[in-house]
Amino acid sequence: MRAVQPVQPVGVFDSGIGGLTVAREIIRQLPAETIIYYGDTAHVPYGSRTVEELREFADTITAFLIARGAKAIVDACNTTSAVALPYLKKKYSVPIIGVIEPGVTEALRATRNGRIGVIATEATVASNAHEKAIHALAGEVRVFARACPKLVPLVEAGLVSGPEVEAAVAEYVQPLIEAGIDTLILGCTHYPFLAPVIQEVAGPGVTLIDPAAATVRELKQVLAAGGGLRGAHYSKAHSFFVSGDARLFTRVGMQLVGWPELKGVRQLKLD
Ligand code: DGL
Repeated sequence: MRAVQPVQPVGVFDSGIGGLTVAREIIRQLPAETIIYYGDTAHVPYGSRTVEELREFADTITAFLIARGAKAIVDACNTTSAVALPYLKKKYSVPIIGVIEPGVTEALRATRNGRIGVIATEATVASNAHEKAIHALAGEVRVFARACPKLVPLVEAGLVSGPEVEAAVAEYVQPLIEAGIDTLILGCTHYPFLAPVIQEVAGPGVTLIDPAAATVRELKQVLAAGGGLRGAHYSKAHSFFVSGDARLFTRVGMQLVGWPELKGVRQLKLD
């Protein structure tokens, strides 16, 4: 196997626009790194897909990112992190980092009353991935998980505030508040774009956990350990691919994060 070169890009993928919340954190913590991003918008939302479909999507995208030279992959999707990560790690030698465990570690650090809420997609909630990861570390902590199928389509359409978003967020988050949680894991990478509305509904006593920061700290450690961390002088433009409508991704991406490279999003179907 060839030694990893710092100049190689970091591969990041999601079902759509949500992984930009993790890419944003890579840019913040590791500004010298170049990102190659794949948003599988032809198949979004992932939350209603079967485990078999999700493994196949994640596998195909991982192979693509590695073929494009990725030195590490960030699975910036909780849904595929929940159901496909062990499979991908076994299949590929490139380091692959998911978003579930970093979020869980942060939440366990934050909770004071041992009642943690999780909002996520249907497939993620059905997998019990957060609950299993929490109980592996802290058996006494109580976990209250809620599937939120309305939220991803809203974010994909660029709707992150207003009455429709507020009503959907309240429907999902209110019961968790009534259950007495003091910490809420944003268990889908689309949800940090809704954080102001979620915080408003949850109230100031609830700590929101966006797994992005802890995920990127793990990426940094993995790259440093493997000799793959870039020096500042290498930096070059990020590249973005989607399987669906490139113009929609550019429009919503520009609205949500505003990076100039998003104007060059390319459509590339992998199947
Ligand atoms: N952003 C994704 C996640 O973190 C997937 C959402 C979806 O496509 O349903 O779970």
